[in-house]
Amino acid sequence: MTKVNIGICGLGTVGSGTFNLLRTNVAEIARKTGVDMAVSHVGCRRDHPDCDLSHVKVSRDVFDVVNDPEVHIVCELIGGDDVALELVKQAIGNGKHVVTANKALIAVHGDELFQLANAKGVSIMFEAAIAGGIPIVKALREGLAGNQVHWVAGIINGTSNFILSEMESAGNRGFEEVLKQAQELGYAEADPTFDVEGIDAAHKLTILSSLAFGVPLNFAAMYTEGISEITVEDIGYADELGFKIKHLGITRKVQGSKADDVAGVELRVHPTLVPKAQMLSQVSGVMNAVMVGSDAAGATMYYGAGAGAGPTASSVVGDLIDLSRVMSKDSTATHLVQNLGFVPDAMQALPIIDITETVSCFYLRLKVHDDSGVLARITTVLSEHGIGIDSMIQKDATSGRALIALVTDSVVERNVDEAVLKLQSMDVVDGDIARIRVEMF
Ligand code: HSE
Repeated sequence: MTKVNIGICGLGTVGSGTFNLLRTNVAEIARKTGVDMAVSHVGCRRDHPDCDLSHVKVSRDVFDVVNDPEVHIVCELIGGDDVALELVKQAIGNGKHVVTANKALIAVHGDELFQLANAKGVSIMFEAAIAGGIPIVKALREGLAGNQVHWVAGIINGTSNFILSEMESAGNRGFEEVLKQAQELGYAEADPTFDVEGIDAAHKLTILSSLAFGVPLNFAAMYTEGISEITVEDIGYADELGFKIKHLGITRKVQGSKADDVAGVELRVHPTLVPKAQMLSQVSGVMNAVMVGSDAAGATMYYGAGAGAGPTASSVVGDLIDLSRVMSKDSTATHLVQNLGFVPDAMQALPIIDITETVSCFYLRLKVHDDSGVLARITTVLSEHGIGIDSMIQKDATSGRALIALVTDSVVERNVDEAVLKLQSMDVVDGDIARIRVEMF
C-alpha cells in the first residue's frame, strides 16, 4: 500500500479536528483511497488537549514540518497571511502539496501561489477555506464543470448570519448585544470586524468567483459592506414587506450589449433583503448556504455548517483524499487536480463592474413629516430618477412624523444614490435614510 505522510501545521480548532478525523476514520479512508494515509509530523506552538500526539513527531517550529523530507502533503492550518504565506511558499519550493483552510491567503495571494505550484507540479487545495464543511469547491470545480455558471450567491459568514437571525427572532436585541453573544459562543474571528464588516465573506467570495468564472482572484476590487448598521427596526419592516435580511456574497457574470459579449463580473458582499419564500431566507443561525445558477443544471443550493472542528476537518481530509488518490496512481500527475478548475492559460481577466453600475431592487426606509403632500414629493423624486415602487408600508411615528418603508423595482444603483442624496436634503425628511439592496434568486 502506498504510504502518504501528512504534516499538520497548526493545532487549533481546525488542526486538531483534522488530526483526530484522520485517526478516527483511518480504515474508511484506506478503503476509499487504497493508500495508507497518516499524520507523521505536527508543528504547533503547544499541544492540544484533545489530540494524542504520542506516536507522531512534534515540532514547535512549523517550518520543521515543511522541511521534513518524509512529509508528502503539508496542511497549513495556522491562518493569517504572514507566516502562512512563507510556510506555503516553502512547502511548494520543497515540492510538497499543500492543503489549506486559509481564505485570506488564497483570496489575496492565490494567483501567485498557484503559479509557483504549477511550476513545481504540485497542488494547492482549499476546500476548507470556504463555507466549512460544504463541498462547494468540488461542486463548482467538478460536479458543475460542464456548465457555464451565471451567478453564485451565498451566506458565507456564519457569525453575521447568527447575529441577523438572533436580532430577527428576539426582536428587541440590537447588533452590539448579539455580537457579544457570538463572540462568547466562539463563532467570530479573532478580529470580529472581519465577520461583521464583511471581510471574511469577501475573502470567500473572491475565491468562489474565480472558481465560477475562471477569472483571476480579485479581492481588491470587491465591494464590501457589513451588517453593523442593520437595525432591529429594519428587520421588522423588511418582515412586514415579505423579506428577511441576510448578509450575502454575490458574484454574477453580466451580459454585454451583443450576444456572447460579457460586460464584466459583479463582486459584492452586503446585507440583502431576500423574499421569505426563497431558500436562502430559511438559512438561520451559524449555518452557511451557497446557491449557484448555471446554464444546464439551473439553480442548485449547498447547505451546511460553515465553521467548527468537524465540518472544516471534513473538507481538509476530503482534499487529502483527492490528492492521495492521484498520488497513488501517478505521483507526477497531481497537477491534474487543477487549483481553480480552469487550465491556467485559459484564465481570463474580466472587468469588475462598479457597484454603482449594478442593477437591483432597493429597500428604502425614511422618516418624514406627517403632512399632506409629503408622500407625493417623495415619490416624485423617486420617479424623476427612474425608480418605480413595488411595495410600501407607512406607519405613524412620534411627534408628527411618519415612517415609510418601501421596496423599489429594479434600478441602476447610481440612480438610487442620486435619489437618496436628494431625499436626504429635503426639509420634510428627518434623520438618515436606510438603503438595503434586494435580490431574488
Ligand atoms: N468566522 C467565520 C464565520 C468562520 O463566522 O463564518 C468560518 O470561516
